[in-house]
Amino acid sequence: MSRLIVRPSAPLSGEVTISGAKNSALKLMAACVLAEGRYVLRNVPAISDVEYMCALLEAMGMQTRRREDGALEIIRGSQVIPEAPYELVERMRASSAVLGPLLAAMGEARVAMPGGDDFGARPIDMHLQGLEALGAEFTLSHGMIHARAERLVGTEVVLDYPSVGATENLLMAAVLAEGRTTVRNAAREPEIADLGAFLNRMGGQILGAGSSVVTIDGVSDLRAVEHTVIPDRIEVATFLSVLGVAGGELTLQHVRPDHLDLLIEKLGAMGIRISPEPDGLWAMASGRPRPTNVATLPYPGLATDYLPLLVALQCFNTGTSYATENVFSGRFRYVGELARMGAQVRVDGHHLVIDGVERLSGAPVRALDIRAGAALVVAALGADGETIIADAHHLDRGYEGLTDRLSAIGVQIERLD
Ligand code: UD1
Repeated sequence: MSRLIVRPSAPLSGEVTISGAKNSALKLMAACVLAEGRYVLRNVPAISDVEYMCALLEAMGMQTRRREDGALEIIRGSQVIPEAPYELVERMRASSAVLGPLLAAMGEARVAMPGGDDFGARPIDMHLQGLEALGAEFTLSHGMIHARAERLVGTEVVLDYPSVGATENLLMAAVLAEGRTTVRNAAREPEIADLGAFLNRMGGQILGAGSSVVTIDGVSDLRAVEHTVIPDRIEVATFLSVLGVAGGELTLQHVRPDHLDLLIEKLGAMGIRISPEPDGLWAMASGRPRPTNVATLPYPGLATDYLPLLVALQCFNTGTSYATENVFSGRFRYVGELARMGAQVRVDGHHLVIDGVERLSGAPVRALDIRAGAALVVAALGADGETIIADAHHLDRGYEGLTDRLSAIGVQIERLD
């Protein structure tokens, strides 16, 4: 069982290169189902979620390979097996991103129904309703969604909520549908703008990806292309939260500050000094963070994936802070782990009330998912003694070489497998 051991560290210093965005790379990989040919994706992080997506594409008859220059090459032949089996979907929910592309390219899809996870129930009803509006028919049996569409026809879809996954599946289906699809109340995350850019490069005609109204004029042919994935904004939040607790000075390279407006503002309010640089960020922190309230919302609101990291930082604030989770109602399980380290956090519905303490106390804890695990690393930097984080494999799903990159800036961290 993989574990991380984190010890109190001196103030940090150095440079960190931010990886490509996991949540963009996975969807671009799914989009490669749409057209035959050889794709080259650059800046795809070497993380286990990417390996799972490679395994899924290979199970569907495609080929994937890491080139020597680090780029991911994906070859899609003339036919794709339109099936995403349970063993693969269960490992990674993002596998359901192949539903839209399979329907559009093959006219059918058999995709295992994703279950819940540490975030809570996580239904995909909006994905299915949107695809149904385009002409797909679904049946559910033995835990598999069977989808069929003789043809997909463009229409207007109004999402009840700006779901990231539903917006992406709709874009990837509508790009090959007949006529115009308009998605209203679409999710506006930068990863969706990246997917829109990728699909347009393939020959799609999409306007407004990354805004709340997306117009897709269906085309009959797409082609394989090369593309560079945008930087991972959640990784930026992770390194800045680590800095916020440990103190010191860091330069983060390969960052899109324009994707981080609200995060920079909130961290600034906590007392972390941040200034955007060309293609990067400079940041400095000293002392305990000031009490600041944070609330998650769909983009451009504060991302739900930031919240465990920010809460870990708030544990050290000089008063009382509040944190509100508005996106995934069940996403507070990590609070129990922080409490084992002495954090004063009270759950009140979808709010947290956090009374800051000067130091936590190192303890054995468990990473429950990617960001919950990263939050424990943040907390451990302000804890006396050793913190041992079990189930560290969760962090490998979303962070490339985290232990080495943290060690390089002065974090006392060690991995035991
Ligand atoms: C994606 C991200 C995840 C991030 C989330 C919100 C990936 C691989 N994952 O997840 O890291 O935390 O966006 O930014 O990109 N919902 C429904 N029905 C649906 C779809 C969603 O009720 O059909 C609900 C969800 O349960 C949740 C909310 O809508 O409460 C937001 O979910 P969504 O935006 O779809 O997130 P994901 O795409 O699953």
